[in-house]
Amino acid sequence: MSDLSVPQINTQEWYHPSENVRRDAYITDYEAFYERAMKDPLAFWAEQAETLDWYQKWDKVLDDSNPPFYKWYVGGKTNIALNALDRHVNTWRRNKLAMIWEGEAGERRTLSYYRLWQEVNKFGNVLRSMGVRKGDRVTIYMGRVPELVIAMLACAKVGAVHSVVYGGFSEQALADRIEDAHSRVLVTQDGAWLRGQIVELKQIADEAVRRSACVEHVVVYKRTGHDVFMEPDRDYWWHDLIALPIASTKCETEVMDAEDPLFILYTSGTTGKPKGILHTHGGYQVYTSTTLRYVFDLKDEDRWWCAADPGWITGHSYIVYAPHILGATSFMYEGAPTHPYPNRWWKMVEYYGITVMYTAPTAIRGLMRFGSAWPNRHDLSSLRLLGSVGEPINPEAWKWYYETVGGKRCPIMDTWWQTETGGFMITPMPTVPLKPGSATRPFPGIEVDVVDEHGNSCKAGQDGLLVVKRPWPGMLRTVFGDPDRFKKQYWSQFPGWYLTGDSARKDEDGYIWVIGRIDDVIKVSGYRLGTAEVESGLVSHAAVAEAAAIGLPDEVKGNVIHAFCILRQGVEASPKLEEELKNHIRHEVGPIAVPAKIEFVKSLPKTRSGKIMRRVLKARALGQPEGDISTLEE
Ligand code: PRX
Repeated sequence: MSDLSVPQINTQEWYHPSENVRRDAYITDYEAFYERAMKDPLAFWAEQAETLDWYQKWDKVLDDSNPPFYKWYVGGKTNIALNALDRHVNTWRRNKLAMIWEGEAGERRTLSYYRLWQEVNKFGNVLRSMGVRKGDRVTIYMGRVPELVIAMLACAKVGAVHSVVYGGFSEQALADRIEDAHSRVLVTQDGAWLRGQIVELKQIADEAVRRSACVEHVVVYKRTGHDVFMEPDRDYWWHDLIALPIASTKCETEVMDAEDPLFILYTSGTTGKPKGILHTHGGYQVYTSTTLRYVFDLKDEDRWWCAADPGWITGHSYIVYAPHILGATSFMYEGAPTHPYPNRWWKMVEYYGITVMYTAPTAIRGLMRFGSAWPNRHDLSSLRLLGSVGEPINPEAWKWYYETVGGKRCPIMDTWWQTETGGFMITPMPTVPLKPGSATRPFPGIEVDVVDEHGNSCKAGQDGLLVVKRPWPGMLRTVFGDPDRFKKQYWSQFPGWYLTGDSARKDEDGYIWVIGRIDDVIKVSGYRLGTAEVESGLVSHAAVAEAAAIGLPDEVKGNVIHAFCILRQGVEASPKLEEELKNHIRHEVGPIAVPAKIEFVKSLPKTRSGKIMRRVLKARALGQPEGDISTLEE
């Protein structure tokens, strides 16, 4: 396996936790905790589930009689909103801040647990009044405002299945996701603020609804206040609805089976059709809250900031659900790290007294570019722990984060996981000695391995496939509407083991170093994109006959997309056409999918069976040997 993107690594560079970190940690004896969980994982997962509320306790922790369709906490009755909201309003936490929010222009809002619970109840009643019932899907397409969190929790509360589509996606991507989920209700907003500009969410939503016939009602939250089109009898303002008598502050929480679906989150795979990853109430609530509790050691005094977007799994698990299950104070902001100045983040850390901060390597690299003077101007001494997710963190960014942001006090929790896994899978805990660039060891109770294509464990230092060898409570249950794809994609190469799609190597200390994707998925600024999505976007333009997309290394974004297009007969290549195609992708898929470069070519390297060899395109672009090209047709 070639590793085009692995930075030079030093597997013997250690960082040990300080006495303070050790003293304050929940788990002071990591090895003993780890051993105990590995010896009897089911007992461990039962014990973790006991910390939550259930309307009815489960009969069986794991039903593995029909793999890979595993079931957790079988017979248990619960609702994730029972644990994230209802239970807190009966305790002292009703007065604790659940959320702190800062808007792009500097507006501030806080919601206590009591207030959040009331707002969720009101919106839950609105959804019910629109006929939303247990199991119905609701698509949410919003910016980073508290109402996005309220809408998600309200869906959970009434038993609806939410499908949040990231606000950076465009018409066709949104339409495909609405259509696949058959959502009758769409929740959106007039526009979102980003770097002083308005992202026209409602306008995009209108076009998407025009392309997907199933939507009956659209709820529009007013954020920017600029003029937007409102279709009579279809579109309703959020503020009008929650002012209706029906929107009372009491809303019955739907009693859910542990295995009832909680949400669908679409992610990129190896085909152009996005995969609806399905998670459930019971196992997901146990897994996300357990991992957050132990990895980030969250305590009542903490102010937790996960800088992701709720539109991705990181935001679902660690902005919306886990922090609220733990009764923590969770911070969220609207806008971008560098607007109006590159000190926005550091200013917020200081102002709000953030104690634990969790972000992505691409954001760290992006801020590092502006130099240390920006963070140095602020008092960041409230921070005690840092986190990283989304792609391998290069040691240079790790060190800057550790020294300049964390003042050499704060261990960095490099958490490896996926949309499919629900929560952290390979990760240190605060007392674990760190090596920059390695996510260290599996979370207690999780068994992972690096294997060759026959399933044999690789030797230390040898590259192989990253697999998970037993089920865990936060695992995806299926691909929505496509159980065969679920089986084929994740469980067919090694029956009984979950195939992650990543390559990795283990070092002599058993630490895991994730290298990157081995399928046709590209990580751009930590966002996951399928080459097929970009390619089908390109060929939907009248000028393009065939297209191929690859990821090439980039200093800030990790990877950027390079696309190759064969034009239709009679169409002339030109810089203007390149711009037009980029715009087309921006509209059809979204700004995150826009290629950095589009090259016009006469042919593409293909196998004799007609499959494009992206590996060859990539090697050529990087000036590297093409590897085995015996199947190449040209
Ligand atoms: O390639 C791995 C990379 O992100 C992929 C999962 O992407 P997604 O489903 O969008 O979820 C991202 C947030 C959980 C993985 O297959 N990845 C994620 N975290 C890390 C990582 N690669 C290396 N180190 C990480 N800490």
